[in-house]
Amino acid sequence: MCGIVGITSSKEVTSRIIGSLKKLEYRGYDSAGIATISENNINEVKCEGRVNELEKNVNQIKLSGTIGIGHVRWATHGKPSTINAHPHSSENVSVVHNGIIENSTILKKILEKKGYKFKSQTDTEVIVHLVTDYLKKNNLKDTIIKVLKKLHGSFALGIIFKDQPDLIIGARRGSPLAVGYGPDEHYLGSDSYALKSMTNKISYLNDGEFCILKKDQVEFFDSDGIKTNKEVLNLSKDEQNYEKDQYKYFMAKEIDEQPVTIKNCINEYIDKHNNEINIYNFPWKITDISSVVLIGCGTAYHSCLVAKYWFEQNTNMDVSVDIASEFRYRKIKFKQNALYIFVSQSGETADTFAALDLCKKNEVKTCAIVNVVESSIARDADLVLPIHCGPEIGVASTKAFLGQMLVLYLLCTKISYEQKTISNKTYQNKIKDLLLLSKCAKETLNTDNKIHNLGKDFANSKGSMFLGRGYSYPIALEGALKLKELAYVHAEGYPAGEMKHGPLALIEEGMPVVVIAPRDEHYKKTISNMQEVISRGAKVLLITNKSTDEIFSENIWEQIEVENISNELLPFLTTIPLQKLAYYSALDKGFDIDKPRNLAKSVTVE
Ligand code: F6R
Repeated sequence: MCGIVGITSSKEVTSRIIGSLKKLEYRGYDSAGIATISENNINEVKCEGRVNELEKNVNQIKLSGTIGIGHVRWATHGKPSTINAHPHSSENVSVVHNGIIENSTILKKILEKKGYKFKSQTDTEVIVHLVTDYLKKNNLKDTIIKVLKKLHGSFALGIIFKDQPDLIIGARRGSPLAVGYGPDEHYLGSDSYALKSMTNKISYLNDGEFCILKKDQVEFFDSDGIKTNKEVLNLSKDEQNYEKDQYKYFMAKEIDEQPVTIKNCINEYIDKHNNEINIYNFPWKITDISSVVLIGCGTAYHSCLVAKYWFEQNTNMDVSVDIASEFRYRKIKFKQNALYIFVSQSGETADTFAALDLCKKNEVKTCAIVNVVESSIARDADLVLPIHCGPEIGVASTKAFLGQMLVLYLLCTKISYEQKTISNKTYQNKIKDLLLLSKCAKETLNTDNKIHNLGKDFANSKGSMFLGRGYSYPIALEGALKLKELAYVHAEGYPAGEMKHGPLALIEEGMPVVVIAPRDEHYKKTISNMQEVISRGAKVLLITNKSTDEIFSENIWEQIEVENISNELLPFLTTIPLQKLAYYSALDKGFDIDKPRNLAKSVTVE
C-alpha cells in the first residue's frame, strides 16, 4: 500500500509534503519519512509511527528544501521501523516506493556482489542501488528505462537526485500515481486527494509510464522512453474540506452520515418526478445481459454477497460472486453476455483492479461501482456507477458499504424491470420503499444508547459469533469483520443453519453471539437456531426489526430493533447497529478507531 508525495518548486516544500502525507495516512501509517535536497545534499528524516511524529522531527532539525519526496508506509518487506521507513537513499539518489518488487532477493544478491551495501530489509532499497549503478554508464532517462525493465512486480515510484536538484522521476506499474500542476511547481502523489490542497489540475500516469517533473516542465514517457501526451483533468474541489467536526473519530461521523449519503445517492439515481431509476450511459442493451459476476474484497465483497440474493430474487440471471484475489488467478470461462461488476470504495484495490484488467483483456462487459470516481478502477471500467457518499476516511468501511449495496440494489431493480422479471407495480413499490430508506436509517441510528453499553462485553470476550440467514448472512459476515478489525477480537460470521455442522462446538457459557433475524422469510428458522446457541450457554444479542408480535424464545440477553421497511432493504438497517457495536467495542479498549493496527484504507498490494 503506502503513500507517495513529491514536490519540485522554487518555494519551500517541507511543510506541504508533511501536509500531503497526513492526507495519505489512510494508505499506511506504520512509519513515515521525507527527503529534501538543500545545500547540495539529500537530507532524510524518517521515523516509526505517524506523520505527526515525523513533523516534530522535521521541525526540530528545521528541514528545508525546494524539492522533496515523502512517504507513509504499510510494511510489506521488513517490519515497521525507522530504518525500513522510506525514503531509501544513497549519496546521490533517494527513492519512495509503493508496491512490491518481486525479484528483489535476486537483484539484491547481484548488487551485493558488486559491492553495494544494504541498510534495510526492504525490497525498495534495490531500486536505489540499481539506479546508482546504471547512472554510472547511462544518462538519466536511459537509466530509468533500464531500471524499470529490471523490476518485477508492482510499483509507484518517486525518485530524486542530489545532482539534479529540481527534478523528480515518477514511475508507475500497477500502483497508481498522479501528477499535479501548480504555478511554477509540479507535484507527484499516490492519488489526487493528497494533492487537492495544492491543485485541482491532475494527470494520471498509465500503467508502465514514467514522468520527469521539473518545477516548470513535465514530460511523460512510455516504458520504452517514447513521449506520451497527457490529458489534464480539472477536479472538483467539494471534497477538500472534509473534517471530523464534533466527532472524536471519522468512523463515528461516517456512520451517522449514512441517512444523508443514502439520500444523496438516491437523488442521483431516482427520478422522483417520473418514479424511475436512471442508470445513465448504460452502454449495452439491458436485455442482452444474461448473467452477472460480482467481484470485490472485504466489505465490498460482502455487499456483492447481499446483492446476489437480490439478483436471484428479482431476475432470471445467473449470479456469481467472487473475491477479487481469487478471481484473478482462476481459469474463468468468460462470457460475452455477462456483466462483470467490480465493487470498490477506493477504486484502487490492487486485487480488484487486477481482476478488472483480466476482464478487459478478455473483452467482456465491465462495470465499476466505486466511491472515488477519479480512481484507477473507475477510469478503466466500461461503465462507472458512483456511490456518491463523499470521502470515507475511517479505515473500516461503513457508509461506503451501504452505498455499494444501494447502487447494486438500484442496478438490480432497473435490470429486473427492463428484463420484465418484475412488474411495473413491483418496480414502483420498490422505488417507493427506497425513498423511505434514508428516514429509516436515521431512526435506526437511535439504537445508539443501547449498543454503547454492549460494546464492553464484546471487547472483553475471548471471541464471538455473528449469525444470520438469507440477506442477513452476509450482514453477519460484515458485522464480524468490523469487530475483528476494530476491537481485535476474534469474531466469526456464519450462516445460522450451518452452526450444527461444527461451529456449535465453539459455544460456551457466556459467549456473546449476535443473531440477525429480521422478521423476513427466514425469521422462524433463525430464531430456532438462536435457541440452539442460547441452550448451550451463549449470551445472545438479537438484531431484529420492530414488531408488536412476541418473539418465541426465552433468555435473550439483549435485543435491538431496527425500523420497518421492505424485507429486501432490511440489510441496510441491520448493518447500522453492527457498525456501532464494533465502534463502541474498540472505543472501550481505547484503540485508534480510524487507523486500526496492521491495516490501511487503500490496499494497493496483492
Ligand atoms: C473493511 C474494509 C476492507 C475494504 C477492502 C476493499 O472495513 O474497509 O475490507 O472493504 O479492503 O476496499 P475497497 O472497497 O476500497 O476496494
